Amino acid sequence: MDEIEIQKEYIEKVNKINKNKDLKYAILTMGCQLNENDSEKLCGILEEMGYSKTCNFEEADFAIFNTCCVRENAEDKLFGKLGELKRIKEKNGTIIAIGGCMMQEKHITEKIRKSYPYVDIIFGTHTLHRLPQDVYEILKNEEKIDDVIDIEGKVYEGLPIKRFNNIKASVTIMYGCNNFCSYCIVPYVRGRERSRNPQDIINEIEKLAKQGYKEVTLLGQNVNSYLVSEKRNNPNLEYNVKINNKNFKINSFATLLIAVNEIDKIEKIRFISPHPKDFTDDVINAIANCKKVSKLVHLPLQSGSTKMLKIMNRKYTKEQYLNLVEKMKAKIPNVKFSTDIIVGFAEESEEDFEDTLDVVKKVNYEQVFMFIYSRRVGTPGEKMKNQVPEEIKHKRFNKLKELVESQIKQNNEKYIGTKQKILVEGISKNNENMLTGRTDSNKVVVFEGDKKLINTFVTLKITSEHMWYLKGKLY
Ligand code: SAH
Ligand code: SF4
Ligand code: F3S
Repeated sequence: MDEIEIQKEYIEKVNKINKNKDLKYAILTMGCQLNENDSEKLCGILEEMGYSKTCNFEEADFAIFNTCCVRENAEDKLFGKLGELKRIKEKNGTIIAIGGCMMQEKHITEKIRKSYPYVDIIFGTHTLHRLPQDVYEILKNEEKIDDVIDIEGKVYEGLPIKRFNNIKASVTIMYGCNNFCSYCIVPYVRGRERSRNPQDIINEIEKLAKQGYKEVTLLGQNVNSYLVSEKRNNPNLEYNVKINNKNFKINSFATLLIAVNEIDKIEKIRFISPHPKDFTDDVINAIANCKKVSKLVHLPLQSGSTKMLKIMNRKYTKEQYLNLVEKMKAKIPNVKFSTDIIVGFAEESEEDFEDTLDVVKKVNYEQVFMFIYSRRVGTPGEKMKNQVPEEIKHKRFNKLKELVESQIKQNNEKYIGTKQKILVEGISKNNENMLTGRTDSNKVVVFEGDKKLINTFVTLKITSEHMWYLKGKLY
């Protein structure tokens, strides 16, 4: 029997045990969108096992944390939260499960077992699908479960899923990362790249379209290497997929985009993250030619210095990155960019940092996710000499932030008076009389309108800018 069938039997068994008990679960997701998508699966599993969701950990019978370890602050947060859970467990007998990326780090699981012995289940990124079995064993035996494995994970299909948003959905297209950027922990905790079968992805998106979703985001640590690992063993690998009675051949990220673009009722397609080194022309052409694909390209820079990029093992130079941007500007009408930047990685000099500022000025990003370098145990970066002192890191961070914010302000001003088509995502968080959505370039827009407009596309005229959002009027 296949692994997922086995787990589905455990779901049934737990469901029987939980019958008529009105049990609740609470979940905390600490990581990126991939982590969030994993949490949607965890919630799907828990709900099928008879737990219903609460946002309040105080009343949860089952508490679950889905962790991240990409930067240090995640650890502080986890251990702080674990302290709080102890008190709740003493009161309610809550079952505590912790999973996700941080659980793939040995020093962390050892610390949990030693200092937080009341944690019931520890599971990793490769064993998420076994949560039903872990829960069953806890309910039956009450012995602590350690279910972390350090093997190459597989791709599992058919897990239940409970989506957090009913207007836009995330679809993981591949797992893992092969890039080993020298600062980054992800390849160690997520294993090697493995892509889902295109048919499974298309089926999932077609189902989303039927359920009323209009926007999908394709997720992976390096989406433009979709199927690349698989093709290494089998260079002629190609899948035939039928959409609307038309045949599509899928053997790459570009061909996947072209196929997803054909799915009826899906009107907006986004993807994160591509890697600049793998940004082949076919992907650029697919973005240019596929009407539904957002023209905002998230293109992680990390550093603008060729010396730093080499130390970071990014496999492109400053010039190659800028050339790629120029090429896309020439080929994709209205293309815009967002990026990720790390400041203060080991060996970064003032001059290197100036190179980063230079690229930021030249590319003129719509959005920059800025990070202060955080040393990760087990990565090459951890052992590098010449680490940058904290105060210099912060100084550089603030300088970059200043530049980015001034650019955002200038860019925002260019939107004023323009028409923007947006998918209305819901009521604004800060003002319940306003609705909110995002432009193609992922800028938040708020405007006055009838709630009936939620989950439809509207055209707005932008009237003012407010740094982190724009205001608009129905056109
Ligand atoms: N695979 C994606 C995203 C990886 S994690 C990519 O390559 O773009 C998201 C971001 O976190 C990275 O782009 C990087 O900017 C940042 N990051 C990763 N490791 C980090 C570290 N050790 N310290 C600070 N930021 C880090
Ligand atoms: Fe980390 Fe680099 Fe992989 Fe992104 S591409 S997850 S930064 S190793
Ligand atoms: Fe994502 Fe954090 Fe893991 S960024 S892949 S949840 S380490």
